[in-house]
Amino acid sequence: MRASSFEHPHPSPSLVDAYLQAMAPFWHPVCPTAHLGTDPMPIELLGKRLTIVRLDGRITVFSDLCPHLGAALSLGSVVEGRFLRCPYHGWSFDGMGRCVDIPARRGLSIPAATRAETFPSTEAHGLLWACLAPPARYPIPEFPELSDPRFHTGPWKEGSPWRASAPRVILSQLDDTHFSWVHPGTIGSAAHPETPNHQVSRTASTVVSRFTVWQRAQAPSVGLGSMAAEQDLFPVSYEIEAGTSSVRIHKQRTDAAFAVFQAVSPVRQDTCRVFWQIARTYDRETGSDPVHDRVQEAILEEDRKVVESQRPWLLPPISAGRIRYLGPCDLPLVEYHRWMEELGVPQM
Ligand code: FES
Ligand SMILES: [Fe+2]
Repeated sequence: MRASSFEHPHPSPSLVDAYLQAMAPFWHPVCPTAHLGTDPMPIELLGKRLTIVRLDGRITVFSDLCPHLGAALSLGSVVEGRFLRCPYHGWSFDGMGRCVDIPARRGLSIPAATRAETFPSTEAHGLLWACLAPPARYPIPEFPELSDPRFHTGPWKEGSPWRASAPRVILSQLDDTHFSWVHPGTIGSAAHPETPNHQVSRTASTVVSRFTVWQRAQAPSVGLGSMAAEQDLFPVSYEIEAGTSSVRIHKQRTDAAFAVFQAVSPVRQDTCRVFWQIARTYDRETGSDPVHDRVQEAILEEDRKVVESQRPWLLPPISAGRIRYLGPCDLPLVEYHRWMEELGVPQM
C-alpha cells in the first residue's frame, strides 16, 4: 500500500543509519539527574537501548545488553552499591563495564575482554549527558543564566515525546517568524506580524540569532513583567542560541530578563524528548514557577502540533525546491540548516 502524501514515507534504513551515526559524536541530554533512582533505568538514545545506573556514587551509562546472552541489563539489580548484576545468569559488572563475577564459574579467572559496553557520560545543568561515539565533537552547551545570581531558576520539565527529528525540533525554536501565526495569544502579536532584522552568527558549537520584537507586557514569562496593561507592547530583545541538541532562548527588556533552556534528546530519527527549564530575574518566588511553566508549556505545545506535521522526517537538502523559506527573514534557519549539512547530518 502506498503511503499518503501526509504520511510521507520514512527515510530508507540506510538513511536512518546515516542520520543516527552523524548525530552520535555529540553530547546529548538523557534525563534530569533528579529522575535517577537506585534501580537501573532503561532509556533509548539514537535508537540504542541504554541502561543508566549509579554505581559507587557515579553514574554509568551501559548498553542495555548483557555480553553473555544478550539479556537487558536494565532488568538487573545493583549489588553492594557497586555492581550491576544481569537478571539472567547473574553476571556482574563494575562502573567501567568490567565483568567482576560469573556465578556459574566462580574460582576461574575472568578474561579482561569480558565487558559490558559503556559510554561516556557527565552531569551538567542538572541533566545527564551521554555521547555514543566519543570523543564528543563539541563541549556540553552552556546555560549561563543558571549560575547567574540575578536569575531565579525553576525545575526541569518535560512534556510527552515529540514525534519529530531533533533538527526539526531545534529549528522550530530558532524560528521566530511563526510567532504571530502559532503563538498569537502569548509571544506573537497580530498587530506586529512584520519580521525583525536578524543578526546571525556562529560560535564554535552553536548558531546564534539576535533580534527585537514587540510583545505584551503582562503575560507571565512572556512579556517580562506585569507593570503595564495587557494591550501595551514593549520591544523585547531576543538571543537564541541553537546547538546540536539544545536551544537557549534569552529575552531582555530594559528591566527584566527571561531565559529558557531546552535540551533535546534524540530518542530515534523521528522521536525526541525535550527537557526545559526557565530562569528569570523577576517574580523570583518559587511559588510562581508553575504559572511561568504553564505558559512555556502552552507555547511548546503550540509548536509541537506544527512540528509533528512537518515532512519529510529528516530535513530536505537546503538546495531542494521543497525548501520555501529562503528569504532574508529566515537567515537563522538557513544558517542552522547549512551547519547541519556541514556536519553531514543526512537529508532527504
Ligand atoms: S545474559 Fe546476562 S548473565 Fe547471561
Ligand atoms: Fe514557537
